[in-house]
Amino acid sequence: MNALIRAHSGLRYVVLALLIAAIFTAYSNWQKGASGDSKIYLFAFIATHTQLLLGLILYTMSAKVNFDLISEKVFRFYSIEHIFMMLIAIVLITVGRIRSKKLTGPAKHRTVLYFYAMGLIIILVAIPWPFRNLGSGWF
Ligand code: HEM
Repeated sequence: MNALIRAHSGLRYVVLALLIAAIFTAYSNWQKGASGDSKIYLFAFIATHTQLLLGLILYTMSAKVNFDLISEKVFRFYSIEHIFMMLIAIVLITVGRIRSKKLTGPAKHRTVLYFYAMGLIIILVAIPWPFRNLGSGWF
């Protein structure tokens, strides 16, 4: 359980780094009018889905997921807000990935850019950063 939390916590930085790299690549490919796919889009997608898998396992085990204590900030955050926002973000990234695969030319990269950027913003908001006082640290 502890190892799972550590993995889920540390993987956030991999997810963030890959999403940012994918977004920059998509912007640059779009502007250049490039047509091919980029592996970085796939890697960002895989990292996000790995995080989803770890999150789903944690959700079934975590003491911070408790609907009897839903009026308390930390429990409400993990039981509802964190999972809800992360699921929306991951759906957006998935839609971006699938749609972009069917497209060619600049539209492909623009689709990745828009959907991954929307996903990234939601993920940034839904991470329990230390300054939000939800009992979680930087790692
Ligand atoms: C990209 C998506 C996600 C990111 C970046 C992320 C990030 C994090 C971080 C940084 C923590 C704090 C860990 C700590 O206290 O050290 C956390 C905790 C948690 N996450 Fe996520 N998460 C994501 C998606 C999900 C999803 C989809 C679920 C549920 C299905 C989920 C369930 C949980 C749970 C239950 C905890 C609390 C674990 C505990 O301390 O008991 N996460 N997440």
